Amino acid sequence: MVSFKELGLVNTREMFAKAIKGGYAIPAFNFNNMEQLQAIIKAAAETKSPVILQVSKGARNYANQTLLRYMAQGAVEYAKELGWEHPQICLHLDHGDSFELCKSCVDFGFSSVMIDASSLPYEENIALTKKVVDYAHQYDVTVEAELGVLAGVEDEVSSAVSHYTKPEEVVDFATRTGCDSLAISIGTSHGAYKFTPEQCTRDPKTGRLVPPPLAFDVLDAVMEKLPGFPIVLHGSSSVPQEYVDMINKYGGKLPDAVGIPEEQLRKAAKSAVCKINIDSDSRLAFTAAVRKVFAEKPAEFDPRKYCGPARDLMTELYKHKIINVLGSDGKA
Ligand code: G3H
Ligand code: 13P
Ligand code: ZN
Repeated sequence: MVSFKELGLVNTREMFAKAIKGGYAIPAFNFNNMEQLQAIIKAAAETKSPVILQVSKGARNYANQTLLRYMAQGAVEYAKELGWEHPQICLHLDHGDSFELCKSCVDFGFSSVMIDASSLPYEENIALTKKVVDYAHQYDVTVEAELGVLAGVEDEVSSAVSHYTKPEEVVDFATRTGCDSLAISIGTSHGAYKFTPEQCTRDPKTGRLVPPPLAFDVLDAVMEKLPGFPIVLHGSSSVPQEYVDMINKYGGKLPDAVGIPEEQLRKAAKSAVCKINIDSDSRLAFTAAVRKVFAEKPAEFDPRKYCGPARDLMTELYKHKIINVLGSDGKA
């Protein structure tokens, strides 16, 4: 058993309370490799933003759980080296799908876990979430739960349609589970294709897809039922068109990729939404930079020469999100 406190990590309790009060949101960035982690920490340290490092089950399988945990521990030291005296870094399990996985992360030094039982029937979601909460809280590890199902793929849970969170369920759910934060479904989804062209209109000038607005009425109703309770938005990548264009220009194929417009995330960040999950945008930045080097310098075979530019572009992206979208700069 390793406590997250020994690793210099923090849970989400204080982060979220401050974020709700201050009208901003904490960035939750997924990482799978060293370059992503370096970019996240550099961006957070340079902007003095609290940050949540997210590890999915897939990331654990890809990178090895032991290595990831030591990387997170190393991230705290790296942050200090960059001049961030008291780094506020949370290590969070993203989309945990079983009690065993959540327990293993708690035991392994994670400071926060998500139990995503949103695809289960309501009572089963409550029972599993409560079991995780009861275990995690013994070690002061905070727990995110989910009500409502996002369209697209949630790790191994797939759903073709989005089922918005039912505001009438949230008080009962939060009370009976004791969860610390709640991910809700208001129209966001995972990946780089958040809406079909049929769901969008087209900007006549640029020809680009314009997605439909998020269901802010559902968010408002949830906040009315649970005043001051921390709300989480998954699937919040904006799918920047500059990266999509770069990828397509340099041999990729991402037709009609579309995300959540930043002005909608800005609006959400000012509300009780205090954690905003971003993964796909980082994948796009990484891929765009690598493709550019491959296309322009076909003789290059030193990974540092293409992972380096990818890392720089991701750092720029994370800083942009922190400063211009979430407003979490200067809060740590
Ligand atoms: O919500 C999903 C995250 O983007 C993690 O994705 O399961 O491919 O690591 P992954
Ligand atoms: P995106 O695919 O929109 O980046 O969402 C990531 C996410 O929700 C991770 O849990
Ligand atoms: Zn997610």
